[in-house]
Amino acid sequence: MKIIENNPEFQVFVKEIRKKGGKIALIPTMGSIHEGHKSLIEKANKLGFFSAVTIFVNPTQFNDLKDYDNYPRNREQDICLLEKIDTNLLFFPSNKDLYPSGITSKKTILDYRNILCDKFRPGHFDGVTTVVKSLFNLINPDHVFLGEKDYQQLKLIQKMIKNDNSPILIHPCVSIRMKNGMSYSSRYDNFNSFQENLFKRSSRIIISNLNKLRIKIHSMHLDNIKKELNKLNIKKIEYIEVRNEVSLLPTVKNNHARLFIAYYIDEIRIIDNFVLY
Ligand code: PAF
Repeated sequence: MKIIENNPEFQVFVKEIRKKGGKIALIPTMGSIHEGHKSLIEKANKLGFFSAVTIFVNPTQFNDLKDYDNYPRNREQDICLLEKIDTNLLFFPSNKDLYPSGITSKKTILDYRNILCDKFRPGHFDGVTTVVKSLFNLINPDHVFLGEKDYQQLKLIQKMIKNDNSPILIHPCVSIRMKNGMSYSSRYDNFNSFQENLFKRSSRIIISNLNKLRIKIHSMHLDNIKKELNKLNIKKIEYIEVRNEVSLLPTVKNNHARLFIAYYIDEIRIIDNFVLY
């Protein structure tokens, strides 16, 4: 695995790959590599693309400075994990590479807004789309692999590609789940054992209600999840909603429906979504 820390070196290296006919598959990450990231890289490799992973903890997508400071950073461990799965290239872009005119973000995508995470994290998606656009400009990928765990993020990036008439192909990838049924997330690296236990107990509540929702979408099941989480003293619940996965509008029909959930265990934010069809 080639590791690159500066943009000029990256540009020279990638030019050679393209000369040889290689197709660049970007897997953008904020590090703390887990099974979910690994599955994206493995997919890109399997399709014969040149897998280019970026690690950049993007300051503009954190609406809370403390959250940015506390975001897990595991550089050496990430390098080992990425090497083991035959990642072709690991690039650590700098603030200057991605924000040449200063660390600010712009609101460019107006769809799928004021709902779900956007309602609770003002500016978050502007930070995401700004940095992703900057990564696209820098890397000029042919393909991009994104996990469905951050489903609203995926929808906004797809919309951005469409608005820009960009030839980049987005590959949405299903969530890789832990034994407890929840998707992997870098943020869970910060759990202590008490929080981890609470997370396991909360996951049981969510998963056990999924089957009921798959039979019939009824607000009673959503209320039940909330009540049961409250009983575990999980009080900061941002949303538990069923929405259509295409429009992201609320729905009571199972057809293309997903359960979307966001809650906190102490300061650790948990988001996930589950197909209900
Ligand atoms: O999903 C993430 O890890 C980040 O939001 C992304 C896409 C790398 C942008 O910083």
